[in-house]
Amino acid sequence: MENKVEPAQGRLGVLVVGLGAVSTTFIAGTLAVRKGLSKPIGSITQMAKIRLGKKEENRNPLIKDVVPLTDLNDLVFGSWDIFPDSAYESATHAQVLKQPDIDSVKDELEAIKPMPAAFDQNWVKRLHGTHVKSCKSRWDMVEQLRADIRKFKVTNKCDRVVVIWAASTEIYLPYCPETHDTLAHFEQAMKDNKMDKISPSMCYAYAALSEGAPFIMGAPNTCVDVPAMWELAEKTKMPICGKDYKTGQTLMKTVISPMLHTRMLGLNGWFSTNILGNRDGEVLDDPESFKTKEVSKLSVLDSVLEPKEYPELYGNYYHKVRINYYPPRNDNKEGWDNIDIFGWMGYPMQIKIDFLCRDSILAAPLLLDLVLFTDLAARKGMYGTQHWLSFFFKSPMHGENETPVNDLFVQWGNLKNTLRDMIGEKHLDYAD
Ligand SMILES: NC(=O)c1ccc[n+]([C@@H]2O[C@H](COP(=O)([O-])OP(=O)(O)OC[C@H]3O[C@@H](n4cnc5c(N)ncnc54)[C@H](O)[C@@H]3O)[C@@H](O)[C@H]2O)c1
Repeated sequence: MENKVEPAQGRLGVLVVGLGAVSTTFIAGTLAVRKGLSKPIGSITQMAKIRLGKKEENRNPLIKDVVPLTDLNDLVFGSWDIFPDSAYESATHAQVLKQPDIDSVKDELEAIKPMPAAFDQNWVKRLHGTHVKSCKSRWDMVEQLRADIRKFKVTNKCDRVVVIWAASTEIYLPYCPETHDTLAHFEQAMKDNKMDKISPSMCYAYAALSEGAPFIMGAPNTCVDVPAMWELAEKTKMPICGKDYKTGQTLMKTVISPMLHTRMLGLNGWFSTNILGNRDGEVLDDPESFKTKEVSKLSVLDSVLEPKEYPELYGNYYHKVRINYYPPRNDNKEGWDNIDIFGWMGYPMQIKIDFLCRDSILAAPLLLDLVLFTDLAARKGMYGTQHWLSFFFKSPMHGENETPVNDLFVQWGNLKNTLRDMIGEKHLDYAD
């Protein structure tokens, strides 16, 4: 069948905002995979298959064999961070990967030195960076970031660039219509240097889109989920997506809650708590950054359970999410869920989950998939919010009057059907 997406020619620059635990695990793993030293476990683009046509046709190829994704050998990594450490130093510091795994790609990691960050301490209270741009205004911040992207592209002979956020969570920013409603208002606010309404992450996003690069928001920051950014994405014909990588507890939540809903089992309460000791945990220990995360984590259940449709089952459940900074665990988060449910004649039952996970190990493949898929979308001419990538996010972006899809398997069906569309194949049921 005719392939309708432009082929991936030349090199793809991957500019990662923040060179911490998640980014270095993603970069080191990708480098190790392309050297044949490791396997891309958890990556949809590298490992998943897609059924095409009727069952009896027995066509079940790897996604990467039928969709023109960029080859891993054509990726070139760059970054920004508020600390000058190379990716090698930062990966060593993060202690997610074992030293022999980091050392197996030492030369490549040492060559990745972050550019000075666009940073404002008011937006991440717990960090004190030294490797930071001096900016006269938010507009100037964007101009400097745009120059960085252009320079990176030329120096590394890249044909295309994707910018992905894996930097710290910023403080909670409520939608502010006077600034965030139109592109004209947004640009004026940057020129007027409204530092409390325009976050550094918005400047990265604005710079990326203006330079013809898709932008991915991996933290729960208010950023590309405001109308001004939708207008910019439309103007520049660039894909945007977010927000907040769906990794541990929320991944569980979007699998268990559809089961309850499908079997018409009621919910009285869902208490989620976890301990986490990495730098992300330290940043989230600040109540203003935690608020951003909390809003993102709390958003998932309602859209799956539909309390308005089923008030007897879900009209009154209590939902609580806590994150506790506990240094001894570093990146090896432990997440507990206590779920109080009820069944036949209202009899109560409980489900307990104890997930001993590794935060960055769960997140790394999502970054690889999101980079390759947004680049694919750009080549296909798909711009604006990429709903089909909701699969990867805790709090999928949606329009003002739209309900987000949070059920993992509905998201998975949407993703595969979008890929089928791209290569001229028929839609199939979600289960296929
Ligand atoms: N690991 C997961 O499971 C997961 C899931 C969802 C979201 N996230 C989000 O991903 C992000 C990264 O997580 P992490 O564990 O790698 O954290 P980390 O603290 O190890 O790394 C973040 C890096 O960003 C840098 N930084 C902060 N502000 C910056 C700015 N304005 N510009 C450039 N660099 C900046 C910091 O110096 C740090 O090196 C966090 O926002 C986290 O909430 C992680």
